[in-house]
Amino acid sequence: MDRILVTEKIGAEGLAALKEVAEVDVRLDLTPETLLEALPQYDALIVRSQTKVTAKVLAAGTKLRVVGRAGTGVDNIDLAAANQQGILVVNAPASNSIAVAELTIGLMIGLARNIPQAHSALQNGKWERSKYGGWEVRGKTLGLVGFGRIASEVARRARALEMNIIAYDPIINAERAAQLGVTPVTLDELTSRADVISLHIPLIDATRNLFDAQRLSQMKKGSYIINCARGGVIDEEALFEALESGHLGGAALDVFAKEPPTGPIVTHPKAIVLPHLGASTEEAQALTAADVAEGIVDVLAGRSPRYAVNAPFVAPEEWAIVGPYLDLGRKLARLSTQLVDLPAQSYQIVYNGALAGLTSEPIKLAVLQGLLEGGSEGRVTPVNAPFLARERGLTINETHRPDAETYTELLQLVVTTSDGVVHTFGGTVVRGEAHIVQINEFWLDLVPTSSMLFTFHQDRPGFIGRIGTLLGTADINISAMHVGRSSPRGTAIMVLTVDEAIPSETLTDINNQADIERAYSVLL
Ligand code: NAD
Ligand code: MLT
Repeated sequence: MDRILVTEKIGAEGLAALKEVAEVDVRLDLTPETLLEALPQYDALIVRSQTKVTAKVLAAGTKLRVVGRAGTGVDNIDLAAANQQGILVVNAPASNSIAVAELTIGLMIGLARNIPQAHSALQNGKWERSKYGGWEVRGKTLGLVGFGRIASEVARRARALEMNIIAYDPIINAERAAQLGVTPVTLDELTSRADVISLHIPLIDATRNLFDAQRLSQMKKGSYIINCARGGVIDEEALFEALESGHLGGAALDVFAKEPPTGPIVTHPKAIVLPHLGASTEEAQALTAADVAEGIVDVLAGRSPRYAVNAPFVAPEEWAIVGPYLDLGRKLARLSTQLVDLPAQSYQIVYNGALAGLTSEPIKLAVLQGLLEGGSEGRVTPVNAPFLARERGLTINETHRPDAETYTELLQLVVTTSDGVVHTFGGTVVRGEAHIVQINEFWLDLVPTSSMLFTFHQDRPGFIGRIGTLLGTADINISAMHVGRSSPRGTAIMVLTVDEAIPSETLTDINNQADIERAYSVLL
């Protein structure tokens, strides 16, 4: 049974779903050191934002197939290392957008009306009605930096508050912006025009300290800034100075560069600070745990997860068709590496018939995996296959041919060797099962097994019997036989699926038989 390690608290519904398919250990006590010690036993790891999933952690997870981020941001996971090591990362990006958007609106009103400050003064016995006069958000300009899921929900709510909304995002969906009454602007325009700026961007190299001293100084005098995205996108020291000098009217921070934070910003009277509560609603936590659990269960079962961070997405309805072709693509590739003797000069995948109109990227990755895994020492998965392929200069061309000929769906891998000879391996899926139907000019129908004998020979009486006798003498049990030929007594192919691997001396004996061109023992 697969084993899953959960290092931070996640919702009970998600845990229950995980326990149906695997052994689950929730260990909230792990230090970075004990995490390294524990990881080698696990197939999957689930974290929130506190666990730092570094390259070292990923390397310690020698069995790890997937890391689940119970939440949106993946800045605590070394994605480059995950790609390199072939570990899939899944998250739950749609689960907490509403929670964060509602908190953002709450913080904006909190800033406008000094709610936390007035509350705490009163609890300390001070009735300071004149000190805490505020302003209305109606008619003010809200500047959204980043216009993804959370910012769109903030915009929807801010519109109901009758605010003017402007947004900056390098990839903005103009139609969605128009529907939500949001005007796209440049970052500079947003910075200088907004009365309130709210940040909804990931922490990546391009956004680190995006709001540094210079940008903060370009903000309107007396304006406000809210950060419910990630610490690190604002320079906290520069923000402290901007509040201190009176250039900014206030700031609300849910996230910090270092959590828990230690800098002076935490106690600044014009700052509202929260301990990273954006996603902490019952509803968001339940949804997050359910979504991340679904992703982990899918990956462990060999299916495409809905929210893969480092792999292509396939819609569930397409997955029903595409999924089994991953297994077939990988098998065709592994077969080709064992049946083609000369080095390959080029590879081409041909998606025929109904396959031509579907998402082909996952099939291509599975083919790459199959081509690479025979000759690799380390783990090869669809996640690190492109990286390994780039390293070795291996490229694959793809052709989509919607017109179906013999099969309604046919996947072909065409390998051209350095002597210019073209080798074609074709297959299809029947009732969810991979069938190999073409080896070069031969058409057959073979359900591949883990051990097989392939012979290319002249079609002559007695040939099949002789090979059967040799295998019987070596105590190799044949489970099925498939033959194809160009013409009676012409060139032919035979494939025997066998229960045991064929010893090399038996293969040599077979290769020494009359009428044989070449025999191969194939292991898939
Ligand atoms: P999203 O991917 O839907 O949106 C992020 C947007 O930022 C994208 O549209 C992207 O194009 C844009 N972007 C990237 N670089 C940019 C740049 N330099 N300038 C402007 N825009 C840029 O993500 P989301 O679900 O809206 O979440 C946004 C962030 O909020 C997450 O990355 C996460 O770090 C944070 N978050 C925080 C909490 C919390 O508890 N406080 C909860 C969830 C998410
Ligand atoms: C997220 O990115 O989803 C947040 O950091 C929320 C969390 O992990 O609790």
